[in-house]
Amino acid sequence: MRGESPSTQAATDEADFLSCVRAGLRQQPKSIPPKFFYDAHGSHLFNLICTTPEYYPTPTETGILERYGAEMAELIGTSCVLIELGSGSAVKTPLLLRHLSDDAVYVPIDICEPHLLHSTRRLQNTFPSMRMQPLCLDYTQIPVRALSTFSDKRQVIFFPGSTIGNYTPDEVIQLLKHVAELVGDDGALLIGVDCKKSPDLLNAAYNDAEGYTAAFNLNLLTRMQRELGAQLDAGKFEHYAYYNAALGRIEMHLVSCCTQAIRLGNESFTLAEGETIHTENSYKYTAHEFQQLARKAGWYLKATWSDQGGLFDVHYLSLSATEPRHLASQTA
Ligand code: AVI
Repeated sequence: MRGESPSTQAATDEADFLSCVRAGLRQQPKSIPPKFFYDAHGSHLFNLICTTPEYYPTPTETGILERYGAEMAELIGTSCVLIELGSGSAVKTPLLLRHLSDDAVYVPIDICEPHLLHSTRRLQNTFPSMRMQPLCLDYTQIPVRALSTFSDKRQVIFFPGSTIGNYTPDEVIQLLKHVAELVGDDGALLIGVDCKKSPDLLNAAYNDAEGYTAAFNLNLLTRMQRELGAQLDAGKFEHYAYYNAALGRIEMHLVSCCTQAIRLGNESFTLAEGETIHTENSYKYTAHEFQQLARKAGWYLKATWSDQGGLFDVHYLSLSATEPRHLASQTA
């Protein structure tokens, strides 16, 4: 578990939020990193997004895990150490855990301690014989020795939800190199990746009719007011999300509806009418594109499972070139 007290961590988080917002508003174009979406209300809104008919990634990946979980478990090894990055509410995890043996170990990693402990307790009730070892950490900065106690078993990183899409391609390579260093030579990676598809489907998924995605985006402004004392008028911003086909990514922005200022401490940031704060990228990859990125980080693609519509992929990768490739690319 994290060595800091909750109050020290809260102060660190707030300092990080303040310095990222300040740096992001000083830039041109303005931007704020998406990791700050996830305060308690933002996490709740994200869960609501996942229930909308437009947001296909959640049910599609769930369907793939339901159908092929047993096969995935066979390939990663049923008595492995399964390390879930950014485990959050870990809703899809049982679809894999149910196929692992009792001597497998589950290591959920999440920065949000209440979420982490709550979901671990729930999973422990469902799988009482399995050893579970939650780690409250930022998964982009896992200390090398954090997983060394589990070195007698194969270590498998589980990273569902296409969260990898929220990083730039360069950051993906860095993150996949980082996890490769953690898991040792026989390590493996099971990762959900959202695919390129019709812009209409993509645009709908990030502009749901209920307005949950808009509320999720705009909540960032409310959080800035509450936690940083930022002076701004959240009602004068609008949600904007669109598929940038040239860059293969959904972009989310907060658009300023008029010329206005955001005050933060003794600084004032002016926004022109129509100017945006870029809040999120969500990259979409073909299997081939993702394979090429992963290769740059040292990983070999061994198998891919997809849904019938080709909306979403779950990839299995290993650090060993010689491990036999699982031939069938499956579709649910
Ligand atoms: C968490 N992440 C994979 C989501 C995505 O689709 O990029 C976050 C999200 N943003 C808007 N809707 C969902």
